[in-house]
Amino acid sequence: MDHFVVTASAARQRTDCAVVGVYEKGVLSAAAGDLDTRLGGSITRLVRNGDFRGRLGETLLLGDLKNSPCERIVLTGLGSRDALGRKQYRKAFTAATALVVKTGATEAVNYLATEKIAGTDAYSAARCTAEIVAAALYRIPDLKTAKKPPKPSLKRFGVAADRTTKTRAERGLADGQALSAGMAFMRDLANLPANVCTPTYLANAARGLARDHRSSVRVKILGEPEIRKLKMGAFLAVTQGSAEPVRFIVAEYRGGSKNAAPIALVGKGVTFDTGGISLKPPPAMDEMKFDMSGAASVLGALKAVAELKLPINLVVLVPACENMPSGRAVKPGDIVKTMSGQTVEILNTDAEGRLILCDALTYVQRFKPSAVIDVATLTGACVVALGNHLSGVFANDDSLASDLIDAGKRADDRGWHMPIGDEYTEQLKSNFADFANVAGREGGAITAACYLAKFTKELKWAHLDVAGTAYQSGAHKSSTGRPVPMLLEYLLSKSS
Ligand code: BES
Ligand code: MN
Ligand code: ZN
Repeated sequence: MDHFVVTASAARQRTDCAVVGVYEKGVLSAAAGDLDTRLGGSITRLVRNGDFRGRLGETLLLGDLKNSPCERIVLTGLGSRDALGRKQYRKAFTAATALVVKTGATEAVNYLATEKIAGTDAYSAARCTAEIVAAALYRIPDLKTAKKPPKPSLKRFGVAADRTTKTRAERGLADGQALSAGMAFMRDLANLPANVCTPTYLANAARGLARDHRSSVRVKILGEPEIRKLKMGAFLAVTQGSAEPVRFIVAEYRGGSKNAAPIALVGKGVTFDTGGISLKPPPAMDEMKFDMSGAASVLGALKAVAELKLPINLVVLVPACENMPSGRAVKPGDIVKTMSGQTVEILNTDAEGRLILCDALTYVQRFKPSAVIDVATLTGACVVALGNHLSGVFANDDSLASDLIDAGKRADDRGWHMPIGDEYTEQLKSNFADFANVAGREGGAITAACYLAKFTKELKWAHLDVAGTAYQSGAHKSSTGRPVPMLLEYLLSKSS
């Protein structure tokens, strides 16, 4: 998709499709007013006749226009003028885009962006344009054998801005486009079935990023012998029941000064989570192919950072394996030694995410990172706590937690600060090892974070539990691309 900024008024700009807003009570937006004048009042007449009410998300396609600079118009309801914020703007433009892609238009311009939208400037209005158009055009890489539906004709999407904000709008389009590329990268990986998206497949996807960005991205893949040499006993315990080869992905992006400490992202890469010997029940077990969403999100963030050539250094680590039951699988009660030297009693083999992450969090210390953020579909308990709307944000540093939460707000990918603490950590007590990998039902998302905290004492560290936000279930079963927006926004804020 090509994106561009338009500074001419709607009445003068030739386009295949103009997206213009109408407020409730028939108040026309600036661009709708301009076109209405050109068209001799036809929009006013439509509104007066009650054919378009301007309700938020309402759309109407106008075609066959006489004496018009545009081939088509998509009238878009903006709701109440006083209530127009970024959320309403996103909703309205999402509805408009859904209609535009159904038409034969090859090019379109978003004029909603120049309205007065609370919490939005030219940068973010343009960035939303790129994000929403990309989301509308995203297709699951499905394996259906029927002929694929024809590709939409849309090739170019512009956004309106005034002359003084043009550069900011261009920046917004570029950031939105890179973010969308990172999200699509994540979604493609997570949507694939586990028999295709194996640890080896994830490793090859990371290698692909290094190939696309030769000068800035370096990727190293460790296999079982190297992982064994590192003494990652917890990671190895999870993979030992699986026939699929294990991989540890180490990717480094260099865009900052040579001596600048990197930021590190660590993603849970369980390409399928059966629960192991603590087997999960059958309903919805297929969704455990999404258990590598953390891994896919940190690789997606890396792609976006590399495309934007951000002036930072970044390390991305992914421990990748399956969690399977078998004659060789780890058993409840087994005790393993983690890379940190601490011993763990594995009371529940379904609490495998923390077992692979803890060794990655020990490994990450060699990079002396300024901050470490791990991303994981870690607990069902986090979904109970926060539902499918907000990601859980846990941290051993309050400023890092609020940086992430603020970034999430700006990127419309919100998180909620959750606690960690000694009271919870005590629940992990074991009679047989330094501690256990589970602590009972209550506060399950928090005790999981407290387990990870035992491996990050020397780090400025945050943990994102995205079990409820990384994918959708039901009829719209699919990866959401979250938390790539929050991660990229955080990294953008650290680049300026
Ligand atoms: N991958 C799951 C967490 C999960 C559950 C993600 C539901 C998305 C939706 C994780 O490995 C897991 O099984 N966690 C257990 C932990 C428990 C055994 C302490 C859980 O949440 O039940
Ligand atoms: Mn599990
Ligand atoms: Zn899992």
